[in-house]
Amino acid sequence: MAMRIPPAVIEEIKFRNDIESVVSSYVNLKPAGSNLIGLCPFHSEKTPSFTVFKNTQTCYCFGCGSGGDVVTFIMKMENLDYVGALEFLAKRVGLTIPRDPVDEERQTRSTRILEMNKVAAKFFHASLLSPDGKKALEYLQKRKFSPGLIKHFGLGYSPNSFNALMNHLKQNGFTEKEMVSGFLCGISKKTGKPFDLFRNRVIIPIIDTKGNVIAFGGRVLDDSLPKYLNSSDTPVFKKSKNLFALNYARKECADRIILCEGYMDVIALHGAGFTNAVATLGTAITPEQARIMERYTKSVVIAYDSDEAGQRAADKAFKLLGEVGLDVKILKMNGAKDPDEFIKKYGPERFRRLLDESKTHFDFKFEAILAKYDVSQTPEKLKAVNDISDIIAKVISAVEREVYIGKVAEKLEIAKDSLKYDVDRKIRKQTRERQKDESRKIMLDTAGFGDRINPDYAKNVRAASAEESIISIILTYPELLKKVKDGTYNLRAEDFFTQFGKKIFEKAIELYEESASFDYGMLGSEFTADEMGRITSIVLKRNNLSQNGEKELVDCIEVLKKEKSRQSASLADIINAKRNENK
Ligand code: GTP
Ligand code: MN
Repeated sequence: MAMRIPPAVIEEIKFRNDIESVVSSYVNLKPAGSNLIGLCPFHSEKTPSFTVFKNTQTCYCFGCGSGGDVVTFIMKMENLDYVGALEFLAKRVGLTIPRDPVDEERQTRSTRILEMNKVAAKFFHASLLSPDGKKALEYLQKRKFSPGLIKHFGLGYSPNSFNALMNHLKQNGFTEKEMVSGFLCGISKKTGKPFDLFRNRVIIPIIDTKGNVIAFGGRVLDDSLPKYLNSSDTPVFKKSKNLFALNYARKECADRIILCEGYMDVIALHGAGFTNAVATLGTAITPEQARIMERYTKSVVIAYDSDEAGQRAADKAFKLLGEVGLDVKILKMNGAKDPDEFIKKYGPERFRRLLDESKTHFDFKFEAILAKYDVSQTPEKLKAVNDISDIIAKVISAVEREVYIGKVAEKLEIAKDSLKYDVDRKIRKQTRERQKDESRKIMLDTAGFGDRINPDYAKNVRAASAEESIISIILTYPELLKKVKDGTYNLRAEDFFTQFGKKIFEKAIELYEESASFDYGMLGSEFTADEMGRITSIVLKRNNLSQNGEKELVDCIEVLKKEKSRQSASLADIINAKRNENK
């Protein structure tokens, strides 16, 4: 087994990192009884369901099921593994962890990939300016990217070769394994040998806010496909948690961020003086990215492509960004497919005007509806009213709805009251549908369908639920865990019904044996942050149960054993029946 950070050190780190003060630096917490609540940082919500329990030093979101102790919180928040989270927390309070060779290796691996990326970025940039990169440079010039801009973004060229980069990295002491895990090389299925992934492409390095080169995007020089090759996730890169050009935009975006779809749009915008532009990394915007933006700015203008796909994506982005409390607008471009093309065609001044005119989502939708129907004709006007009241009905704020109703009534020359009546009717209908969806979801949840963390749960709810009670008891009372370990209740790992429960049981015993003490946060070294959330919810349920832990434990063990034997009995029955059939 890999070496671990000594339990006493973990205890000290947790002791010095009070959960309230740690969570407070990410979440605005308010007192609620003896606990604290705030908006969950792990999912989008409008009413707080993220709860910090001061007395047990744990947290749990009743909305999305994330939770655990301070270490689990940091694992999920900072996207670190257990040891990484402990290091993070140790650093926060100025503690140094005695070094363990295994951690050292993991840490070194990330540092090595970052170093390798830096060497690769320099190599690509130099190739662009070498005779080899002539075509690529011409391509960028054709797109009106100035030498200064090319340098600013460190753009490069990956030679048309299967091993140019690889040889260069080898000369610089990097191993094939490092190249593969950093997504610079792939392994050939035929020969088993590595080869350069980026070939004959313009290279766009992705740089994080600390200045590390964390990934690359590569664009072909013509119309061939695929147009882009982007790094997959690596030990130093998660595309869902980064934004292109935020390293530059972060200093210029306190008032407003311009969110684009493409790298090239962002580069062109920065070139034209709009240094607050960023883009996602070749995927639709994620809730994490919305929260990152919320940390840097008050408002976002979505400047997606003007085609239908771009506008659909803009709708989704609008919703996500609004949910984290950002003021969001959508920029409408005519006569150009994207910001890059627009700036080239009409110049930065016209783009600035577009920015200032960018519409709220509602105005934008309303305009589209007015353009779609000829509202001087009564039947068409009724259709327009129907479409627009659908949209108003989805607005949560009643005040906002009032404003829109006023606007529409005036524009379409209809009575405000009748429009309001239509909208209210639609709201009631939407509520009914939502309730139906929700009760369906609850039914599925309790039946355990779609349970990714403990997929065995639904197979025998009675056994699984007895099992959860057992787990909550032994995780809450170390003295009972000790008795279980010593064989007092004759409970063994094989008695467990679900794989998840069995693993919790085994690991709890193992950890207890190693350190002769236990709190369930220690399981963080063996389980993912999401699994820890589930374990936290199991422990929390305990609070609602009887206080006589031992009696309940004994009862639940009995239920579990009975269910287990019933299960094997029925299996035996089936086998017997089969045998008889075959006779
Ligand atoms: P140009 O066509 O050069 O102006 O590129 P763009 O930056 O405007 O990109 P576009 O709007 O076509 O696409 C938006 C983003 O989606 C790009 O920046 C890429 O990150 C990603 N993307 C586009 N095409 C592909 C592809 O073929 N494969 C992958 N993996 N990503 C792509
Ligand atoms: Mn483009």
